[in-house]
Amino acid sequence: MCGIVGYVGAKQALSVVVEGLRRLEYRGYDSAGVAVVADGALSVRKRAGKLGSLEELLGADPLPDSTVGIGHTRWATHGAPTDSNAHPHVDEHAQIAVIHNGIIENHAAIRQRLLAKGVHFSSETDTEVVAHLLAHEYPSTQGDLAEAMRRTARQLDGAFTLLALSAADPDVVVGARRNSPLVVGCGLGENFLASDVAAFISHTREALELGQDQCVELRADSITVTDFDGNPARARAFTVDWDAEAAEKGGYDLFMLKEIAEQPRAVADTLAERIGSNGQLQLRELDSVSSRLASVDQIVFLACGTAYHAGLVGKYFSDHFVGVPSVVELASEFRYREAPLGDNTLVVAISQSGETMDTAMAVRHAKESGALVISICNTQGSSIPRESDAALYTRAGPEIAVASTKAFLTQVVAVQLLLLQIAIIKGSSDDLELKSMIKALADLPAQVDLALDTVEPARQVARELVGAKSVLYIGRHVGFPVALEGALKLKELAYMHAEGFAAGELKHGPIALIEPGVPVVVIVPPMGSPMQIREKILSNVAEVQARGAKTVVIATAGDEEAEKVADYLIRVPLTPLLLQPVVATVPLQVLACELATAKGHDVDQPRNLAKSVTVE
Ligand code: AGP
Repeated sequence: MCGIVGYVGAKQALSVVVEGLRRLEYRGYDSAGVAVVADGALSVRKRAGKLGSLEELLGADPLPDSTVGIGHTRWATHGAPTDSNAHPHVDEHAQIAVIHNGIIENHAAIRQRLLAKGVHFSSETDTEVVAHLLAHEYPSTQGDLAEAMRRTARQLDGAFTLLALSAADPDVVVGARRNSPLVVGCGLGENFLASDVAAFISHTREALELGQDQCVELRADSITVTDFDGNPARARAFTVDWDAEAAEKGGYDLFMLKEIAEQPRAVADTLAERIGSNGQLQLRELDSVSSRLASVDQIVFLACGTAYHAGLVGKYFSDHFVGVPSVVELASEFRYREAPLGDNTLVVAISQSGETMDTAMAVRHAKESGALVISICNTQGSSIPRESDAALYTRAGPEIAVASTKAFLTQVVAVQLLLLQIAIIKGSSDDLELKSMIKALADLPAQVDLALDTVEPARQVARELVGAKSVLYIGRHVGFPVALEGALKLKELAYMHAEGFAAGELKHGPIALIEPGVPVVVIVPPMGSPMQIREKILSNVAEVQARGAKTVVIATAGDEEAEKVADYLIRVPLTPLLLQPVVATVPLQVLACELATAKGHDVDQPRNLAKSVTVE
């Protein structure tokens, strides 16, 4: 998520805005920029890289003094992290400057419309269309920037927080929000706007939280809130009781908890613009490789750690919808195997950071072998997408905690989008079933939101397991990768022995580990799944219970058969079997986080681990 700051008051706007951006740095970003109004003109400075690069630029080419300004740190979603794609964006006559957090889903259509009118664009971003729309609306509002913003916002689809300045009005910052946060800091003779309170709590703790589809006109001594039609509206007033560090976590004690809570939005953003209103997929990022996708005759998923588990889920999805042979490879092993790859092999490299050396080296090997490489990545401008033939970005926003949460859910979703697209291109699946799965994907953000209701039950179970020496996780079908992911979370956070198994493997050895009191986490497939999968996993549960295991059952709400065999039950929303990992993983994330917290560990930065492993 991008960082957004606006200021109007008596202080030098630049110092307030840059200080505010610095407080939002934890959110992760790849470029930064500021704009102020002085002497009837806009002045903009922006640069790829960190705030230090921007400050170097400001030192070499200072802004004029000004008491009104906006600033932005960009986490790239549309367009690489370059100087030209950095925010603020301005119209052709540099009269209006705008910064944005979110995704304008109809930006392509608006861009086409403006290009047809002769508008020249200077960036690849979705945001730039807003600058041109504001400039188009502004003249007929008799200089009312807030009205221009309302007219513009009504034309936009998607999630956005927008701030704008006008060269003609040095006393106002205007903001608008839909599905993306925007808070007002209420000062004395000065006021602030920001994507979160961390940016201004060193100046004021009195705040207003803007509601959905609201616009705000900010002056040094007034704050005017309306809806997008110009009707007066009320924003929720509150006093910030967090300290600066807590504010960076949005009031959560841990980045991991914040990122678990962000999962509905992360999944929604990953799906945004990729499922059209007609239910058709629209993955423009794959247009350049669609002809090669038609001739794919094997799929190799490459990844490490949690990303590897997302690949395992993808394999089940691929078997069902694409129907070509597929394998999931640990990148570190694949790197040194003589795996047969050909021109019709599709390698899917999955990586949150895009910098994991094991995966990057495996990608290079795959490219040298002539395979088609598509990466699923969360970080624009990183190495792995750069070396791939195409990239499908997850839009989870920066993931600060070392333990992957929202990155995993969005990797699973992005892989499924890719595989559905291949199935459509190859005609390898029934149309009705494809449509039904696409609809189920579109419903996922709401399901993940419901899955967050498992946070408290998972915490309660965690308290029961604090004394356990080891925890086993079992699942069948896509429940097996979920079992592996749950076990990995517990290992990396609680430093406990944990192991995930394919439930069918228990009788081939691991069941010897079962003795009275051993906790066994069981992922039970949703009701409606093939009976042979459900019956077998339920009999596996009976087997371990008969030997004294304590069963923690993750099952769909209302699954009475599962409830009968649960010593501890955590209910997740009903989804199709192939999408269950996206909801069933949430309580396992919480379980691990809670146990780590109970043990006094540094949850966000566990021992021995790095967020991105850039060594082989
Ligand atoms: C999982 O919680 C870890 N963060 C780790 O396993 C991670 O998934 C792995 O190192 C791969 O990282 P990547 O997705 O950035 O390539």
